[in-house]
Amino acid sequence: MGAGVSGWKLARAVSRAGQLGVVAGTALDVILARRLQQGDPGGHFRRALARFPVPGVAERILDQFFLPHGKDSSTPFRAIPLLSTKSSGEREDLIVAANFAEVFLAKENHTRLIGINFLEKIQLPTLPSIYGAMLAGVDVVLMGAGLPLSIPGVLDNFAAARTARITLDVRGSAKSSSHELHFDPKEFCPGVAPTLRRPDFYAIASSAIVASVMARKSTSQVDGLVIEESSAGGHNAPPRGPMKLDAHGEPSYGERDVVDYGAIEKLGLPFWLAGSYGTADALERAQELGAVGVQIGTPFAFCDESGITSRLKARALRRIRAGNDHVHTDPLASPTGFPFKVFELPNTMSEPGIFERREKLCDLGYLRHAYEKSDGRVGWRCPGEPTHVFLRKGGKPEEISGRKCVCNGLLANIGLAQLQPSGVAEEPLLTSGTDTSTVRALVSECGMRYSAEDVIEHILGATATAP
Ligand SMILES: Cc1cc2nc3c(=O)[nH]c(=O)nc-3n(C[C@H](O)[C@H](O)[C@H](O)COP(=O)(O)O)c2cc1C
Repeated sequence: MGAGVSGWKLARAVSRAGQLGVVAGTALDVILARRLQQGDPGGHFRRALARFPVPGVAERILDQFFLPHGKDSSTPFRAIPLLSTKSSGEREDLIVAANFAEVFLAKENHTRLIGINFLEKIQLPTLPSIYGAMLAGVDVVLMGAGLPLSIPGVLDNFAAARTARITLDVRGSAKSSSHELHFDPKEFCPGVAPTLRRPDFYAIASSAIVASVMARKSTSQVDGLVIEESSAGGHNAPPRGPMKLDAHGEPSYGERDVVDYGAIEKLGLPFWLAGSYGTADALERAQELGAVGVQIGTPFAFCDESGITSRLKARALRRIRAGNDHVHTDPLASPTGFPFKVFELPNTMSEPGIFERREKLCDLGYLRHAYEKSDGRVGWRCPGEPTHVFLRKGGKPEEISGRKCVCNGLLANIGLAQLQPSGVAEEPLLTSGTDTSTVRALVSECGMRYSAEDVIEHILGATATAP
């Protein structure tokens, strides 16, 4: 789950309890750089970096970012150059090492499986991220938010120490094949690039059509599918057909969005269901539909091991306990154009006043999209950046309204808020699934703090968690 919510601590706890723990692969480079600037409490990232197999990389990263006593709270985090097609080798090193470190820590001291989750839409860091995760022996790569047809082949290539390539989606580009990203393990690992175990690949889809395209047209083997329904936390697939909004301004999902599980079963791949499946009854319903299991988000997002700050978690949990929580599926909030679920909480970006007060700027840039400039070169723009800059780059005025800075909001959720140039800290932007009933049940069973193991026991029964 997005940007550090499902960090290594949560993924490890889930794995140790016998399930597949998944780390979020988004923005791990910035998360590593900022944790090091906070003094790396517990020394976890330094321990992981010490095991990074390519000489010199960890040392350079520590030199650049590690502050033994942590940075002063009135000093901003050090800016990192935004990714581009011409990013430096050092920028790439940071991505590989950060993904390595997160998976290394999630896998440390046990032998169970760990997955990593990426969004297809965020393309620039994809190849070095996957390579870093594979260097740490990741067992499963999961990817949604697009059609990640090329990723299974990428896994094959990296496993064999071969160069992998993906095509960059460039708006307005006539010949998209000319915009290609590549990563060569032999260049990255001077001497001999190791052959690596090929992780399984699970595609995240929200319809039988997408699942079927993934199963039939991918560049190599797809090993499983996660079928995510529209109540799931984070980004959602838009409704099929033209976007219609209901009376609350939320995307209106109808008959055409009902998943054809019969068609999915016929694909012959194991599949898991996601979106309000965090109860024993829902698990049973999923199994009746042919699923081998379920993917759970929201109940884990608020557990002890999740990366959301304790303060923010406690505020959200108080609302959930009182039954006055509300999650709004915002069709505009995300610069990606995908609907994004926003947990409404005072003093966060869910409040119009806080959102409008924010000085617009784009200093993380993960959700920017590529466009072709008049000279054929690739440019980058985000509707969350200053309006005049976005328009100058050819962005359309109608794309701007209501767009929030999801990147900065998500990092603020996990205690890594940047200070804007004015000195004001970025505010959180909390996301969760629509269904918080399992969280409410856990709070009434366990109190205001519950663990990942409590979540699993709640769904599977006390005997089902691994020793
Ligand atoms: C806080 C939060 C962040 C999430 N971030 C991501 C993400 O980055 N990528 C992704 O594929 N799914 C993400 N999800 C979706 C979960 O992986 C999962 O599919 C979903 O939460 C399941 O539905 P549930 O929330 O009703 O349990 C996120 C969910 C939550 C609650």
